[in-house]
Amino acid sequence: MGKSKNKTIFSCQNCGAQRPKWEGRCPECGAWNSLVEEVPFDDTKDRGWLSNNSEGLSSLSDKVVSTPAQRIGTSYLELDRVLGGGLIPGSFVLLGGEPGIGKSTLLLQMSDGVARQGRKVLYVSGEESVSQTVLRAQRLGLTNQNVKVASESNLSAILGLIEKESPDLVIVDSIQTVYLSEVTSAPGTVSQVRECAGQLMGVAKNKNVSIFIIGHITKDGNIAGPKVLEHMVDTVLSFDGDPHHQFRLLRALKNRFGAAHELGVFQMDSVGLKEVSNPSEMFLEERNAQSIGSSVFCSMEGSRPLLCEVQALTVSSPMAMPRRTSIGFDVQRVHMVVAVLDRHTSCDLSHSDIFVNIVGGLKLEEPAADLAVAASLLSSYGHSEIPAKMAFFGEVGLTGEVRAVNFAEKRIQEAHRLGFESFVLPMANKKHLSGLDKKILSQIVWIQRLADLPKCLNITPKRRAVEKPSAVEKPPVIHGNA
Ligand code: TYD
Ligand code: MG
Repeated sequence: MGKSKNKTIFSCQNCGAQRPKWEGRCPECGAWNSLVEEVPFDDTKDRGWLSNNSEGLSSLSDKVVSTPAQRIGTSYLELDRVLGGGLIPGSFVLLGGEPGIGKSTLLLQMSDGVARQGRKVLYVSGEESVSQTVLRAQRLGLTNQNVKVASESNLSAILGLIEKESPDLVIVDSIQTVYLSEVTSAPGTVSQVRECAGQLMGVAKNKNVSIFIIGHITKDGNIAGPKVLEHMVDTVLSFDGDPHHQFRLLRALKNRFGAAHELGVFQMDSVGLKEVSNPSEMFLEERNAQSIGSSVFCSMEGSRPLLCEVQALTVSSPMAMPRRTSIGFDVQRVHMVVAVLDRHTSCDLSHSDIFVNIVGGLKLEEPAADLAVAASLLSSYGHSEIPAKMAFFGEVGLTGEVRAVNFAEKRIQEAHRLGFESFVLPMANKKHLSGLDKKILSQIVWIQRLADLPKCLNITPKRRAVEKPSAVEKPPVIHGNA
């Protein structure tokens, strides 16, 4: 008996893996309950953007045929920087972020900005009607006639619009709402997302038009749809921030046309997103001079130094298993810093509940924040203030050493620019900083071991009864048959 043509397959909505039968757990990525029944797409048609390319082969020694792409400014410097200096014609960009964080607002403002540079923009929303989008734009004061708005979710119709309007920039809001009628699965499923993105990519490359697609993210923070989507696009931007704060952070997670991990900072207010060109000042704005349990960390976000406040609170715990909570910093690193403090200083944090918070909704990933976390913990534990104009950075190692971090000079210069008067940093960074101004060098407190931190801060944590090792140490008893 011949195989049925309409045989269905089960695709994992997380990673795109395909299985012939339903399974509770995807064997590829381990996600539970992620397999969905789909009809495989009949892919006899040409796919991929090189299919109608007749240029043939070139070798590396050939003269460059085209001149370097001229970047298009978006009228927003923060956005331009994250993109690596502006939009590249023909680039295919994915913007991911939580619902309600401001993705549509950002791209609507960007559309207007690009139109102000004399370019044509097509904004296609599969989520909102034309009147909703236009009303929103007008409320934000965006009235450029070069931005054409459509409400459409059929990809063939969208491609028709691109053909007709030949815009320089196309926004598709969102990739989860568009569908191809040839694919029988529902919009948002792996097959639909993959096919639609593939076709849009082809159009971007063949017609040299920039296409931005908005992607929803799942509960655990990943961009919904197959990972293949992230591989397909040239640039992956993530837009995040604490919805309860007004700061919104735009980051390039991947960028084929510029440095990754560049950060752009925006502020959401009643008339949309505003650029924040001096983020360090904004993040430190509400900081009280000399408060207990608060220190300032000079972080690096891409190529830009950024100062932020690290707060910590230690309180004696009524529970046998004290609580360790951290917002904006990896709780595993908090555990580690606490353990090193416990071992190498006279702090006894084993019976304390510990809370760490990075102010302003920032998320710090650098180990360089360890020293600032340790300083805030010490300050809270010792009920002692840290000087208001003191800034920290340094990575803490398990043997109690404070390790060098990169971009030390840039970090210090930013802190100095904002009026900071003393800097606590790893001794190992000293040899690379000889180029700094003598006055700044004289304000640096070099630290080699975490054990020296209490002295640097003039904090004398309450001593606990330290068990002294006996004069003649007994050899350890080894159990088992050695
Ligand atoms: P939106 O761009 O629709 O988010 P997304 O597309 O990521 O889902 O933004 C929605 C939120 O932004 C909404 O909760 C209200 C807020 N907002 C403002 O605070 N000010 C504004 O001017 C606009 C347009 C939105
Ligand atoms: Mg939206």
